[in-house]
Amino acid sequence: MQPQNPERRRLQLFPTVHGGRSAMTCMYRCGDACSHPVPNTSDNEYLGDVIAKAVSRRGLFKGGVTAGVVVGAAGALAAPAAAADADGSSSARWGRTPRGLDFEPVEPNREDAVTIPEGYEQQVVIAWGDPILEGAPEFDAHAQTAAAQAGQFGYNNDYVALLPHPESRRKKVLVANHEYSDEVLMLPAYDSAAPSEEHIKIGLAAHGLSVVEVDEDRETGDLTPIVGAPLNRRITAETPFVLAGPAAGSDLLKTSADPEGTTALGTLNNCAGGMTPWGTVLSGEENFNQYFANAGSVTDPVAKARLARYGLSGGASQRKWETYDKRFDLLQEPNEPNRFGWIVEVDPYDPEWTPRKRTALGRFKHEGAGPRLARDGRVVVYMGDDERFDYMYKFVSKHKMKTGSSRSAREHNRKLLDEGTLYVAKLTGDSPVEEIDGTGALPSDGKFDGSGEWIKLASGDTSYVEGFTADEVYVFTRQAADKVGPTKMDRPEDVEPNPKTGKVYVALTNNSQRGTSGRAAADEANPRNSNRHGQVLELTERWGDPTQTKFGWNLLLVCGDPEAADTYFGGFPKEEVSPISCPDNVAFDPYGNLWISTDGNALGSNDGLFAVSLEGRSRGQVKQFLTVPLGAETCGPVVQEKHILVAAQHPGELDGASFENPLSDWPDGPGSIPRPAIVNVTKEGFESIGC
Ligand code: FEO
Ligand code: CA
Ligand code: CA
Ligand code: CA
Repeated sequence: MQPQNPERRRLQLFPTVHGGRSAMTCMYRCGDACSHPVPNTSDNEYLGDVIAKAVSRRGLFKGGVTAGVVVGAAGALAAPAAAADADGSSSARWGRTPRGLDFEPVEPNREDAVTIPEGYEQQVVIAWGDPILEGAPEFDAHAQTAAAQAGQFGYNNDYVALLPHPESRRKKVLVANHEYSDEVLMLPAYDSAAPSEEHIKIGLAAHGLSVVEVDEDRETGDLTPIVGAPLNRRITAETPFVLAGPAAGSDLLKTSADPEGTTALGTLNNCAGGMTPWGTVLSGEENFNQYFANAGSVTDPVAKARLARYGLSGGASQRKWETYDKRFDLLQEPNEPNRFGWIVEVDPYDPEWTPRKRTALGRFKHEGAGPRLARDGRVVVYMGDDERFDYMYKFVSKHKMKTGSSRSAREHNRKLLDEGTLYVAKLTGDSPVEEIDGTGALPSDGKFDGSGEWIKLASGDTSYVEGFTADEVYVFTRQAADKVGPTKMDRPEDVEPNPKTGKVYVALTNNSQRGTSGRAAADEANPRNSNRHGQVLELTERWGDPTQTKFGWNLLLVCGDPEAADTYFGGFPKEEVSPISCPDNVAFDPYGNLWISTDGNALGSNDGLFAVSLEGRSRGQVKQFLTVPLGAETCGPVVQEKHILVAAQHPGELDGASFENPLSDWPDGPGSIPRPAIVNVTKEGFESIGC
């Protein structure tokens, strides 16, 4: 890899607020979470600090469990020497470019375009409004209707999966989440103070998921949607879901429309996701709180506290759906919000199967879900609660997966996520607490690292949290977790196991309030106060067994400008990495390299997709593969041998933008409004990427 040009890089970095996101994105995506009080006001971290000091045992899991750490440590100690004589030829001493990472990195930029490395090609696969279902009309920005939207690709694509087709090697199945709508950008003459019923219905239909069969061009790798194909479907904010698992039927989930508490309508704010080993898609309901009105008028203290812990507050909602549908009005349907904030399971290969909300996996602002199989056949799902000072979780199933494609195996596996044990993570640093000063300076052992414990919350009908029934643990998981002293993290987003190594990677996006008055201060896993750039944590389960309750961990990356003293790149020379800020979603290529997409670049560049070497002397080498258009977030990512897919979410969502005044014209070009879309990047000749 050639060193980046520091002059060029410096010119293009413009520090920003809101982690690089516009105020408009904050409002429509997460209901202005940054501007509201931190929902976690529990004091567990302070108690945690006390316990940490008492039980800190240096090197608890050193040796077998965190073997990968040893490599990183060697790099960390050697890095300054390498930096001193780095002259562009020093790469050789850091090892050969790992397989999969052989491409010329793109530079940070502010282009209204997707930029990719030399020798690669890009293609927009599908964009908001493109027809999916038979009879759905072509996109017409000036004539959008709810009926059209319900048959078209939704807005703001986030998680993406590209799956094998069950019958044809020339086709694939594309699955995408549609996290949220931004009616100001989507709709002409939108009245945000009093939206019309039709505009509200368009918003409802623009949420959810899409499943689309695509043709693959075997020469170029281009992917073309097949309108009306048998597996195509739209799931929206009004599609029926079965509430499944131990909390199904609980009084906490009953509404006037569903007195049994077993059927919810729709899914909201679906952010990231994951594939189960049995071929279904999991999707996380994230900032669901913003859709519900009138939490501020609730007077019952228990209900008020529950609402506050999930960030429900105020009067009218941003989109004012409550004016059309009473289930979004808390004063009329106090339990409706309890039916959101779950991991949902969709079978893309079986349109007849009603999707499920999996209550056994707990209710919080789910970023996504990272499933894996344990050696004994049980399934483990890792999850992050994307809020400042919230927690990491995992679920371990009670039963084992059945292999094979028989009907009975499929029926069995589609119930696996209903029975098991839900855990929350507590992390303890191994360095003296006084060496973690909040600046990001490495402690004297050269690593941010330590040990951890998965703390049991509930299993079936059994609660392990004092004062909480099992139903209460599942429905008010945040408050139950507060009682057991987990570690308050810097916005835990994707938590995913590396299929090659079994190590688990956690994207921690940022937390500008870390260390501010009344808030938890830096700890070894979250080592910077006023953390604007985030970090990536590597977790190794004891004996490599994900069903265990002990683990080791270390920070692989402490993100930001490589020229800043508070950044760390796995010990790799900082002169030779791409700057990275606000890691959000992670994926792995076929060779075991980590790929990271970003959400909000506090260095001022557009968001991007980055590849990171994890093993050997190149560990910590970060290379930027692409950038997304102005205002957009890099979502999705799918990283396969010959395809990289990203969902460019909210392009042009910049302050002052509207339908009438678009500030991006990606992807359709001059005279058009921006449209969120999925981009397929292939190597010329449809060769293997990064090789
Ligand atoms: Fe929707 Fe946590 O990003
Ligand atoms: Ca340490
Ligand atoms: Ca995300
Ligand atoms: Ca995000």
